[in-house]
Amino acid sequence: MAPQLVVRACPPFRVPGRDPAEAVAELERDASRVLDPPELERARAMMPVPRQDFLASRLAQRLFAAELLEVRAQDLTATYSCPRCGSGPGVAHGRPGYTLDGTPAPLLLSLSRAAGWTLLAAVPEPRPGQRLGADVEDPRRLDFEGFDAVALTPAERRAVASLSGDELLRGRARLWARKEAYLKMTGEGLRRPAETLDVLDRPGLVDLDPAASGLPVGLVAAVSVG
Ligand SMILES: CC(C)(COP(=O)(O)OP(=O)(O)OC[C@H]1O[C@@H](n2cnc3c(N)ncnc32)[C@H](O)[C@@H]1OP(=O)(O)O)[C@@H](O)C(=O)NCCC(=O)NCCS
Repeated sequence: MAPQLVVRACPPFRVPGRDPAEAVAELERDASRVLDPPELERARAMMPVPRQDFLASRLAQRLFAAELLEVRAQDLTATYSCPRCGSGPGVAHGRPGYTLDGTPAPLLLSLSRAAGWTLLAAVPEPRPGQRLGADVEDPRRLDFEGFDAVALTPAERRAVASLSGDELLRGRARLWARKEAYLKMTGEGLRRPAETLDVLDRPGLVDLDPAASGLPVGLVAAVSVG
């Protein structure tokens, strides 16, 4: 059977009506029990709000992986791979993955955050050499002069040239989500200049329908499998 893509949208950590201090205390407690020391060390260097988002999404990613692998979350060890720093026990950034008893878990993973939401994507039992990238964007973040010039290829600029207002922001966000999904799939990230990567039509790179992903309709997302 062909490997299947699984996506999950996780809502913002700050839930209205819940006592924030209590929620943060519970989050920090869960994180300290389940996340690995390099993940916790990275979190400690962050300001409170980004730290909470980071811890909540790293916990969600680990629980998602454990569920798909049918193992306990605490039995997984995070193994990250950065194009500059490489991989190893102390690396807690870059492309995500887990090992189980010292062996790479058979699961491709990708994570993205926007507007408090976390998008998780996975391919269990991937084919050898298969790669995955996913990205979610908030179109409101792309409302600034000069975006098209620094981020889009000439063909992409032509594709959004007739748009205006919210449609323009969504058009930009759709292209940007595709670029980041693709660059997470290759592992390069934004080390590759975004305006050199055309994403109008690339095999394996698709927009994610909010109805299928569970993200709110105001956000746009893409996934790349190759
Ligand atoms: C990858 C990148 C496009 C992510 O975009 P972003 O809008 O900042 O953040 P998102 O929320 O969409 O995604 C963050 C997730 O991307 C993933 N990610 C980061 N770098 C990655 C890479 N090289 N390949 C695949 N996935 C990567 C991680 O899962 C990260 O989650 P984390 O914060 O829990 O570690 C961007 O961070 C980037 O270009 N990074 C690479 C730059 C680089 O190489 N720096 C060297 C660092 S030493």
